[in-house]
Amino acid sequence: MTNRTLYLIACAAPPARRIDAAIRVAQVAGWDVCLILTPSAYRWATEDAEGEIDRLSELTGHPVRHQYKLPSQADVLPAPDAMLVAPLTTNTLNKWAAGISDTLALGLITEGIGLGLPIVALPHWNDAQGLHPAVPRNVETLRAAGVTVLLGEGGFVPHKPRQGNLGAYPWQAAVKALSM
Ligand SMILES: Cc1cc2nc3c(=O)[nH]c(=O)nc-3n(C[C@H](O)[C@H](O)[C@H](O)COP(=O)(O)O)c2cc1C
Repeated sequence: MTNRTLYLIACAAPPARRIDAAIRVAQVAGWDVCLILTPSAYRWATEDAEGEIDRLSELTGHPVRHQYKLPSQADVLPAPDAMLVAPLTTNTLNKWAAGISDTLALGLITEGIGLGLPIVALPHWNDAQGLHPAVPRNVETLRAAGVTVLLGEGGFVPHKPRQGNLGAYPWQAAVKALSM
């Protein structure tokens, strides 16, 4: 049986440096994982970790995408059955809720809502970033649009600035939420 396709969309927050862990968890759960990075996350993976993109392409079996194709180019990824946005930054949250699609990652997740795809978002930000009034408002906007935002008990709980615990980032809970 063919595995269902999951678009894993990672923004530029520290858990993106361990995105291989998320890929493995999703693969064990039976997903064919395609990785899409925001331009900032792609910069982290290319400039801060030599060979990372090649390793991630090998792990998923698909090219790692980070920018829109040209109109003349063919799609290189299979169509998605579901999307997991993890880690979700405040920047992408706020643009997503506003319907902005100026990166491939945002284009996929803004359209994904309209397509009715199951979408789970696992935030990562500190409690100072999370106290900006746009953040709770936009989390509610996305929830009302059908996105499962795993913020709070059972998902991601914001930490004090510079006190994050990457080992506790709940990848398992996010992948589990996809199948609910
Ligand atoms: C070392 C470092 C850590 C960061 N951690 C976070 C974070 O945990 N959450 C967050 O929302 N932004 C964080 N940022 C800021 C984002 O990287 C920045 O807003 C970026 O524009 C996000 O772009 P993206 O949403 O397109 O990936 C961090 C930046 C740096 C340099």
